[in-house]
Amino acid sequence: MQDLLAAGMADDVRAGLSAPAGAKRLSCRYLYDDVGSALFEAITGLPEYGLTRAEERILKTAARPILQQAGPCRVAELGSGSGRKTRLLLQEGNVSRYHPIDISLSALAHCETLLSDLVPVEGIHSDYLDGLSEVNIRRGDERLLLLFLGSTIGNFSPSEARFFLTAVAARLRPGDLLLLGADLVKSALVLLPAYDDPIGVTAAFNRNLLARINRELGGEFNLRLFEHEARWNEPAGRMEMHLRSEIGQSVRIRALDLLVRLEAGETIWTESSYKYVLPDLQRTCEDVGFRHVHTWTDTGWGFAELLLER
Ligand code: AVI
Repeated sequence: MQDLLAAGMADDVRAGLSAPAGAKRLSCRYLYDDVGSALFEAITGLPEYGLTRAEERILKTAARPILQQAGPCRVAELGSGSGRKTRLLLQEGNVSRYHPIDISLSALAHCETLLSDLVPVEGIHSDYLDGLSEVNIRRGDERLLLLFLGSTIGNFSPSEARFFLTAVAARLRPGDLLLLGADLVKSALVLLPAYDDPIGVTAAFNRNLLARINRELGGEFNLRLFEHEARWNEPAGRMEMHLRSEIGQSVRIRALDLLVRLEAGETIWTESSYKYVLPDLQRTCEDVGFRHVHTWTDTGWGFAELLLER
């Protein structure tokens, strides 16, 4: 298996699905196999999911000032995305090399195909933090512009996000830049359809997690017996995705020698997407060692792009 995460997946699935009713969960990291990544790409084009288009609008106007601020540099990116947003940035600058960092080899290959006409692409097959350390070994004394786009930070809990940004800051050198994209708190009337679209792409993205367990771990989930559920948890400031079991059932996962028991109506929690209040996020970034340079916001959707200096 090419996926670096797959090794840990069996243990995580066992722990997450052995929990009692009401406490079952699966990590959102496992949503992104090849099928899940293709479904996520489709989500970014849905009219209800304005997040990606908002970030693209920002980057169309902000790319030039960001790259001017960076000067001659290398660019690294946590995740390799579709390459569309990265292209907007790379084409504006004096960039010697681009390092996408991703756990998926196929995502890295795709990214290289899309962007190597602009700059030399050297992908790093690794998790984010080890990959960033690897960039440091390769880059000599060049300044680094690090991209963490698409509000992927929102898939971490607030304490994980703080821990992660601290670890990123520790791997950057003074003067390096971080460009951080974050989705902002907005009305439930906008958020709920963004995570539960009427044609069911997000539902398929969510259910694919069970399909992946069937494919890779010999699971026997009947996907038609699970409903996709999106919730806005206002006190916590997050969207949640769940999979709700329509009936009481026991499901075997052969490779784990595990029988998962689910009550009728019980849910498996599969993802959190935290939505930010801008001053709080700016304060967190400053607390962990970044200087705030500039923030661009898209008011149509409610999205912010923060340029931060280490
Ligand atoms: C990748 N991540 C920022 C997306 C989000 O909005 O949390 C994943 C996603 N989940 C459902 N729709 C999109």
